[in-house]
Amino acid sequence: MAYPYQIQSLEEYKTAYQKSVEDPEGFWAGVASDFQWRKGWDKVLEWNFKEPKVEWFINGKLNITENCIDRHLQELGDKPAIIWEPNNPEDRVRVVTYNRLHKRVCQVAQMLRNNGVKKGDRVCIYMGMVPELVYAVLGCARIGAIHSVVFGGFSAQSIADRLEDAKAEFIITADGAFRGEKVIPLKNVIDDALIGNKTVKKVIVYTRTRIPVSMFKGRDIWWEDEMEYAETQVEKEGVVSFPAEEMDAEDPLFILYTSGSTGKPKGVVHTCGGYMVWTAYTFVNTFQYKRGEVFFCTADIGWITGHSYIVYGPLAAGATEVMFEGIPTWPDAGRFWDIVDKHKVNILYTAPTAIRSLMGFGLKPLEGKDLSSLKVLGTVGEPINEEAWNWYDEHIGKKKCPIVDTWWQTETGGILITNLAGVTPAKPSWATLPMPGVQPVLVDENGKEIEGSPASGNLCIKAPWPSILRTTYGDHERCRQTYFSAYENLYFTGDGALRDEEGNYRITGRVDDVLNVSGHRIGTAEVENAINMHSDVVESAVVGYPHDIKGQGIYAYVICSHIRGSEEETRKNILQTVSRIIGPIAKPDKIQFVPGLPKTRSGKIMRRILRKIAEGESNFGDTTTLLDPGVVEEIAKGKL
Ligand code: PRX
Repeated sequence: MAYPYQIQSLEEYKTAYQKSVEDPEGFWAGVASDFQWRKGWDKVLEWNFKEPKVEWFINGKLNITENCIDRHLQELGDKPAIIWEPNNPEDRVRVVTYNRLHKRVCQVAQMLRNNGVKKGDRVCIYMGMVPELVYAVLGCARIGAIHSVVFGGFSAQSIADRLEDAKAEFIITADGAFRGEKVIPLKNVIDDALIGNKTVKKVIVYTRTRIPVSMFKGRDIWWEDEMEYAETQVEKEGVVSFPAEEMDAEDPLFILYTSGSTGKPKGVVHTCGGYMVWTAYTFVNTFQYKRGEVFFCTADIGWITGHSYIVYGPLAAGATEVMFEGIPTWPDAGRFWDIVDKHKVNILYTAPTAIRSLMGFGLKPLEGKDLSSLKVLGTVGEPINEEAWNWYDEHIGKKKCPIVDTWWQTETGGILITNLAGVTPAKPSWATLPMPGVQPVLVDENGKEIEGSPASGNLCIKAPWPSILRTTYGDHERCRQTYFSAYENLYFTGDGALRDEEGNYRITGRVDDVLNVSGHRIGTAEVENAINMHSDVVESAVVGYPHDIKGQGIYAYVICSHIRGSEEETRKNILQTVSRIIGPIAKPDKIQFVPGLPKTRSGKIMRRILRKIAEGESNFGDTTTLLDPGVVEEIAKGKL
């Protein structure tokens, strides 16, 4: 069954696109009418990119969980919403039907209410990939609490910063999380994050790994006990109910922290109405999802991809999806293919870094795996090189599955540029065409729009789509500065792009000081700050360099006051420091000790030169403006 707003041919795409540009309000009113609103909107859109102020579906009232769950119950109540594949393939698969999801989300909502959580309160969620994470997220949304999910790979310090920024009063976590052979001690990390914290009142702990945890009286409570009690409140004579909070379309739904070019992550804020419409619309159209198909997004819910294409988009569309707790290489590098085979996955959505890493294991892990259920493949998070694209096409899709290369960002809430599977043409390593409602432009350094094609420039968007970020939490000026001040009346993405004669876009990567390591966004300034925390470090500079699997690796140039013990020891200590401050995901791949850094006379580090050294280039361009040009040669000599 197709959805009313599903685009099914190139012609339909062109018509929809044109209408979305000429009459955005009419177009989005049409799409939004397919959702359940407690009260309709007075006006579809008001905006200016100056302040910025963007409002969609003004005065519309809804609750996103009624759209993701309740409205499906009659038709899909017994159908699986989530098929959960545990870390250990020998363990039991859990199938969560829409009825079960409804019950659990009602219980979580009740549990949160029992513990004093109210609409607008911030709840930090730090869990592994278990169904309870989805219940927690949706339970917050049901009572109108603002969730802030933090990826399990972030350190206590990172969590502490996020808790403070969001002034979160509640945390939902687990004792631990299984990831391959490792057990991540989540609750211990939370305990460290809470040292000195003054806002958090309650920590709810779900039992997953049964590793020892300390439970503090008056603060820490067990998920199981609370849920059991909540069950008696939400279920009466076999009927489950917990009335969802009525939310304004523009009420915040969640905060998700992401790195920028400054040292401090920003809390990107998305709201209820526009985000719901966009994630469902893009899910259905990009992947050409049809009712009953099995969708598998391999992302973690700690990132935006998991928010939009595990939690909200697919569930708003009443989809069936696989959720995976583990990692692609455990117990062996055939795990994704086992899952596709076992659960008859129709649509697989993963990251280029995963494809490149699995490519490295050759074709053996594919032997004996039946991948014939696959119809559509997707990638996200970073540019996909042609080699990886071709491997994915040939060995996974068997040249029968369209590949969608979806470009978007935490700030955009959902996919902005992509081909629509089997509907609009694919072009290897090109994201191709904008979604209806998205008006990309390329600008030069002076902010002048580059017309005509082919062209290359900085990628901006001219007008708001329903799920554009509304603000950065607690600091609207920062939002304006970061995204809306570089070019007048444009949203600046931070990415560079090419455009061909047909209007296809190819994203070439970040043009700011943000790295993309294995599809994870990391700010160079953040890593530098962390390195500089090490007691022997005087100064550091971090750049990205091409990495076969990660896309980009982290290269750090470090000046030390002295080296205690061996260089190797100091390197390890620096890595440990970065792990503590940000998390293991930000650990540099290479650390080179240098006597100085190339600086201009005004003291600015010339990263351009450092990037070239890290890339192994020998032509550094003009170095005459440097304070000490000699240092460049010296650094180049010591390149790792
Ligand atoms: O540089 C772009 C890259 O990832 C950045 C956004 O990162 P994040 O907010 O963590 O969201 C990742 C998942 C949506 C972008 O600025 N990026 C994302 N998708 C692509 C991409 N680069 C090239 N091609 C893509 N398909």
